[in-house]
Amino acid sequence: MSKKPTAKKQEVHTTGHEWDGIEEYNNPLPRWWLWTFYATVIWGVLYTVAYPAWPLINGATPGLLGHSTRADVAAEIAEYAKANEPIEAKLVAADLTAINTDEELANYTANAGRAVFGTWCAQCHGAGAGGNVGYPNLLDNDWLWGGSIEDIHLTVTHGIRNTDDADARYSEMPAFGRDELLESAQIEQVVQYVRQISGQDHDAAAATEGAVVFVDNCASCHMEDGTGDRMQGAPNLTDAIWLYGGDVDTLTETVTNARFGVMPNWNTRLSEAEIRAVAAYVHSLGGGE
Ligand code: HEC
Ligand code: HEC
Repeated sequence: MSKKPTAKKQEVHTTGHEWDGIEEYNNPLPRWWLWTFYATVIWGVLYTVAYPAWPLINGATPGLLGHSTRADVAAEIAEYAKANEPIEAKLVAADLTAINTDEELANYTANAGRAVFGTWCAQCHGAGAGGNVGYPNLLDNDWLWGGSIEDIHLTVTHGIRNTDDADARYSEMPAFGRDELLESAQIEQVVQYVRQISGQDHDAAAATEGAVVFVDNCASCHMEDGTGDRMQGAPNLTDAIWLYGGDVDTLTETVTNARFGVMPNWNTRLSEAEIRAVAAYVHSLGGGE
């Protein structure tokens, strides 16, 4: 049984809501709360006027204060670029071979070069420049195209076998199997010969036959002794360092279908100072000549 309170007893109105005799009073909101609420609303409106806020089709309202974190970053970058201007000018003017003997330039390229490498080169050559299958290790002194600072600078500037730079380093190993230049028996033999000259297990009889195949078909690029030719980017086949692999299956695949490693040219993406910095960095990694 619910008991209705009399109007006399009632100090504040109720909202008319009632649950099992419990009624909801309609008290006014506390003043302090209400003013805080209005203040936040005003603050919110002023904020969206002062700062970038409302999304538009292209971008957002800029805000009356003209504040932009993007511009802050750009200004900071410009500041660093300006600070680096003298050393970069010196780097670009320097003789390539003098870079790593000049202490100031060597210090600069060690840092700037590492930064360029991490951003642009690591995805193919590995963060530590240790390479991957098809992407040469840049730490050792086994070079496809040459390990002097001039060679590295040229490789990085124009790239390898790309179609964007007419001065890119270029060569093409024939696909001996796919294009039917050699029979599969000859391929097996020459593969055994490559195993032999690289000091691996091999079938001696097949390797002897393979030596003839090699002189006729491979020596023009890999040289008679198999040590390779940097003019053509033809790898040394007598060492334990492989770009693609020295096991029988991989060698057979290489000779049958050939490889065509491509590196982009960097002269359209990086400044000359950046190219020099990264070339000097790579040169200093241990294999530089
Ligand atoms: C898209 C992958 C890719 C990126 C990115 C790349 N490279 Fe290469 N790089 C290659 C390939 C592939 C080769 C080997 C090509 C060949 O077989 O001759 C190579 C070869 C080289 C060589 C020649 C090595 C030798 O033994 O002569 C140098 C030096 C080199 N890269 C430096 C760099 C530098 C410095 C950068 C960054 C600015 C870079 N590369 C970025 C793919 C890449
Ligand atoms: C026209 C020059 C040319 C001729 C001829 C040639 N090669 Fe090559 N060879 C190359 C080049 C250039 C590469 C590197 C390809 C790349 O990096 O994409 C290569 C790569 C290789 C590799 C891969 C080495 C590694 O480190 O993984 C093997 C193995 C090889 N050649 C064996 C042969 C054999 C065997 C023959 C003869 C049947 C031959 N080549 C003929 C130019 C040649």
